Amino acid sequence: MPDLSNGTARPADLIIFGGTGDLAMRKLLPALFHSHRDGRLHPDSRVIALSRGGLDDADYRGKVDAEVRPALSGGEGWDGFLRRLHHRTVDIAAPEGWRGVAGLLDGHEDRDRIFYLASPPMTFGAFCRGAREAGLVTPLSRVVLEKPLGRDLASAQAINDEVGAIFDESQIFRIDHYLGKETVQNLLVLRFANAFLEPIWNSLWIDHVQITVAETVGTPGRRGYYDQAGALRDMVQNHLLQLLCLVAMEPPSRNDREAVRDEKVKVLQSLRPIVGSEVDRFTVRGQYTAGRADAAEVPGYLDEPDKNQPTAESLRVETFAAVRAEVRNWRWAGVPFYLRSGKRLPARRSEIVVQFKDVPHSIFPGASPNRLVLRLQPSEGIHLRLMAKEPGAGDVVLRPVPLSLSFADTFSARVPDAYERLLMDVMSGNPTLFMRRDEVEAAWRWIDPIMDHWNGSGMLPEPYPAGTAGPAGAHELLARSDRAWHEEDLP
Ligand code: BG6
Repeated sequence: MPDLSNGTARPADLIIFGGTGDLAMRKLLPALFHSHRDGRLHPDSRVIALSRGGLDDADYRGKVDAEVRPALSGGEGWDGFLRRLHHRTVDIAAPEGWRGVAGLLDGHEDRDRIFYLASPPMTFGAFCRGAREAGLVTPLSRVVLEKPLGRDLASAQAINDEVGAIFDESQIFRIDHYLGKETVQNLLVLRFANAFLEPIWNSLWIDHVQITVAETVGTPGRRGYYDQAGALRDMVQNHLLQLLCLVAMEPPSRNDREAVRDEKVKVLQSLRPIVGSEVDRFTVRGQYTAGRADAAEVPGYLDEPDKNQPTAESLRVETFAAVRAEVRNWRWAGVPFYLRSGKRLPARRSEIVVQFKDVPHSIFPGASPNRLVLRLQPSEGIHLRLMAKEPGAGDVVLRPVPLSLSFADTFSARVPDAYERLLMDVMSGNPTLFMRRDEVEAAWRWIDPIMDHWNGSGMLPEPYPAGTAGPAGAHELLARSDRAWHEEDLP
C-alpha cells in the first residue's frame, strides 16, 4: 500500500455516490467550492457525481448552479468550479452505468481517486464491489463512508467486512463531521498545548461533564431515514461519543493518525456498559409533539410532512436521547459524562461543559464551582466561569464571570465548515480525524444493549412539546444527583 499521506494537493478525482442527494448539495459541493476558491484544489481535480438521475454534465452543472450557488456567500470563481463537475448515471446493480464512469476515469490511474459514499450504509458493500468489478479501484484509491455505519454492531461489522474485502483499512475514511469542527480540534489544542489544564483534568477536580447537541430543526422529509435511526444512532453513537473521547482521552504521544485514534478507542473500550434495567435508570428517550419552534407552530414527529406514512416504528423512535455514561479508568472513576441530543429543542446549541468541583474549603459565601464551556455552535468559543468579587466597599460579594474566547472576534479568518477540512484531509490522505474500524465497532458495542433494552421494553419515548427542553426524564437524570443541565446563554 503506498503512503498516501504526503499532505499535498495532488490531482484527484472525487467520485460522489449520491451526487444529487441532500448531503452533496448542502455540504459537499459548498465545501468543495470554498476549497476551489481558496486555491486548495489542484487545477486538474474533478468532481464526478453519480446518481440514478439520468443527468449529463450540463444538466448537473445547471442543477448545482440553481440549488447550491444561491446559498453561498461569494460566487467568485464559480464558473471555474462548475467546469470541474461531471455526472454519470449509475445503478449499482447494472454494469452499463459503470462503463460511463470508467470512460471518464480511464487514463487517469495516476491520480488520487476518492469514492465518497454519500448513500445509505446498506449500499456501501455493493458499491465497492461494483467499482472493483468495473476495474475502477486503483492503488491510489480511497473510500469515504458516511455515518451511521450500520444500525448495530453486527451490521457495522458486516459493512466493514464487505468494504474491507476491497479496500485496505488505510484506504477507508469513516467520516464523522463533528471531528472537523474548529472547536473540536481546538479542544485537543487546549488540552495538549497548554500546561495548566492537564493536572486538574481528572476525577479529583472535575465533578462531571455534559455534552449537548441541541437542534431546533425537526425531521420533515426524513422519516424514511429517521424511523430507522433515531437520536441514539444518528447522533450519540457517533458525534457525541467522539466528543466524549476527545475530552476523556489520555495525551497521545504524537499528533498522528494512529496515536490519536489509539487513545480514543481506549476510551470507548473503557465505557461502563449500561445493560438491562440500568438502561431505564441511566438513559432517557423522548419524541417531540406539536409545539412552537424556530418562531413558528410546528407539527409533532408523527405528523411531519413526508412521503412515507408513519408506521409502528415511527411511534417508537426517539427524537431525543440522554445518557449518563461513565469511563472506567483511573482518571475518570466516578465522574459522570452526561450526553444529550435532540430535535426541536428551544435553541441550536452544541457544547461541552466541564464542571469542576467546589473549592476544597470555602472562605467566601456564595462561591459556585468553575465551569469550562467549549461552544461548538453557534458562536464557536471557549468560556471559563470564574468567581470574582463585585466591586465595592463592604462585604465581599461574589459573582461568576466568564473569561471568554470567541473565535470570530479573536481570529479574523473565516471558520471553514467541517466538511471542508475533512474533504481536504481525505484528498491529502490524512485519516487522523476519521474513525477507524475498531472505534466504530467499540461505539456500537456500547450502544447495542441500550438499543436492545429500548426495543424490548413495551415503553414508548416520553413526549415533549416542540420548542421545550426535552422530556422531564432528562431533567431528572441529573436532578437525582443534585445536578442540572447547563442552559446558560453565552456571548
Ligand atoms: C447529522 C445528523 O450527522 O448531523 C443530522 O444526521 C443532524 O440529523 C446533523 O441534524 C447535525 O450536524 P450539525 O453540524 O448541523 O450540528
